Amino acid sequence: MHVRVLSRAVGPGTRWLERLRAGDTLDITGPLGRGFRIPTDDAPLFLLGGGVGIPPLLYLARRLHELGRRDVLVCFGARTRDLLPVRLVQEPACDATPTRCVELPASAPYPAIMATDDGSVGWRGSAVDALRAWHARHGRGDRPAAVFTCGPEAMLKAVARTTRALGLSCQLCIERKMGCGLGTCLSCVVRVRDTSQAMGWRWALACQDGPVFDRDDLLDYAVVPGT
Ligand code: FES
Repeated sequence: MHVRVLSRAVGPGTRWLERLRAGDTLDITGPLGRGFRIPTDDAPLFLLGGGVGIPPLLYLARRLHELGRRDVLVCFGARTRDLLPVRLVQEPACDATPTRCVELPASAPYPAIMATDDGSVGWRGSAVDALRAWHARHGRGDRPAAVFTCGPEAMLKAVARTTRALGLSCQLCIERKMGCGLGTCLSCVVRVRDTSQAMGWRWALACQDGPVFDRDDLLDYAVVPGT
């Protein structure tokens, strides 16, 4: 098996990872938890990634390509061009028009929108703003898109609000501090809806029940009527 690790040194763990050299041994446990659930209907699929949340969506793009899904659109955002962990094959459009501007795994042929906060490449603004701009022009067909997203917490909350307002379904890949990944340390708890409970919710573990959840199951990511 071939595993590619994309990391940025932001703390002790990633600095330790960065010091590893070719030939060093690394113990890895996984895969753990539950990933994105791919709808079986023919809804357009919108992959929306921010910063270090982009790599999981690269591999989702590969999987969708293997499954023969055609109606897929990719939208990636970062603060600056340097922080986009993708290879551009042509300059992206500045107006959130999807183009074949990114090299995707297995040569998945999906058009993409790029967004940067400083406008150094593609759309100037966030990936969520780019989603809104795309939806205003192209997203009002009779088949609402299903959105798959991964990125920083603030972005995920914005995606949750925006997709709800636009009437789009959404799955979020969330991030928590994970001490064990095996369901024992409880460092990764998140509140999920559960109507069988008196409070209407229960604690779930991001490492086992997630990290991908349906937006409407996550109490802290979207206002759901009746909760
Ligand atoms: S990471 Fe330890 S319980 Fe989830």
